[in-house]
Amino acid sequence: MPAVDVALGERSYTIQIQPGLLDRSGDTLAALCRSPRVAVVAQRRVWDRWGAPLEVSLKQAGLAHSVHLVPNGEGAKRIAWLQRLYAAFAAAGVDRQSTVAAFGGGAVGDLAGFAAATWLRGVDFVQIPTTLLAQVDASVGGKVGVNLPSGKNLAGAFWQPRAVLIDPQTLRTLPRRELLSGLAEVIKYGIILDADFFEWVRENRTALVSLESEALTHAIRRSCELKAFVVQSDERESGLRAILNYGHTIGHLIEREAGYAGIRHGEAVAIGMVLAARLAVRLGMLESAAAERIRQTIHSFGLPVSVPQSMTVDRMVSGLSLDKKARGGRARFVLPERIGRVVVTDAVTPEMVREVIVESQKESAGRS
Ligand SMILES: NC(=O)c1ccc[n+]([C@@H]2O[C@H](COP(=O)([O-])OP(=O)(O)OC[C@H]3O[C@@H](n4cnc5c(N)ncnc54)[C@H](O)[C@@H]3O)[C@@H](O)[C@H]2O)c1
Ligand SMILES: [Zn+2]
Repeated sequence: MPAVDVALGERSYTIQIQPGLLDRSGDTLAALCRSPRVAVVAQRRVWDRWGAPLEVSLKQAGLAHSVHLVPNGEGAKRIAWLQRLYAAFAAAGVDRQSTVAAFGGGAVGDLAGFAAATWLRGVDFVQIPTTLLAQVDASVGGKVGVNLPSGKNLAGAFWQPRAVLIDPQTLRTLPRRELLSGLAEVIKYGIILDADFFEWVRENRTALVSLESEALTHAIRRSCELKAFVVQSDERESGLRAILNYGHTIGHLIEREAGYAGIRHGEAVAIGMVLAARLAVRLGMLESAAAERIRQTIHSFGLPVSVPQSMTVDRMVSGLSLDKKARGGRARFVLPERIGRVVVTDAVTPEMVREVIVESQKESAGRS
């Protein structure tokens, strides 16, 4: 079975990736759980579509489970839902030997993971991600948390799962936009770490967007391997892990400007990657042909590549200093030197960011 090991000493775990894995998830969990009690925290839509095979498999493996449904999407990543989960865990008798399983996209993974990290000072946690974004990114690496009124992901923890179970078949019911949003992160891994993988993703675009099982499984596995490599060398984000933020600095400005509505995270990152490549060209770090190859690739997947004209550049640029990764008031950027290699730099000025945004908005005007 394609598996990726995440080596983090006593917190090591395996990411299993296989079409149809959901039907066998019970056995996998039974082999790993300290007691036969599992609390499944699931997004409603995911439970409706995929709850039956999971439930059958848990029962067959002799696991007693409680099911805790939360709303689809970002709305569940709130203290109020954390509180409700605590109450539900108490009522269901979730004890220190129990395992919490997150079932759904990254939002429920972050919420259920934070609940697991804090319930009884921490219980075992398993991820069963069902969006591409969660399968290649959110479920790997151990960051969990919730949003606060003052900002996204402000309350959280590092809490590594005991295992990640990925069944690529669950993506069959995923809306296309969500799929593409996940593919943006897949493309990102190629640009930051693996030029061959970038080329492979380009060549396999049709297979990927049509959910061809073999291609999809390979893309997920390679993405997990690359993220695992980064997380293993920098679990707590003091150095290398920053490269995962390629495309995210401007991506976050776009998400904030959109009020986190109407644009998917991966779409904002797609635009951010194009603009970061252009910043690298401006700084003389990257050849313009490589930046154009990045733009063209992202565009070919049907992802957006320019900043919507409706967005206010002043407000976006002033948001730079609010970036969590800003140091001394200046945002740190991850910029490509070539496809497959990036550096972290503070050489980017707010003025340069303004220029690439304005240039990008002109292009989006030209196209409409
Ligand atoms: N912890 C991390 O390291 C990390 C990394 C990246 C992103 N995140 C977080 O992940 C979240 C975004 O995750 P996401 O993009 O998975 O979004 P999401 O969890 O909001 O899911 C998107 C939508 O897809 C639905 N869905 C999920 N699986 C489905 C399926 N198989 N079929 C049909 N519908 C399905 C969900 O119910 C939801 O409506 C954000 O909160 C982000 O902060 C965390
Ligand atoms: Zn991201």
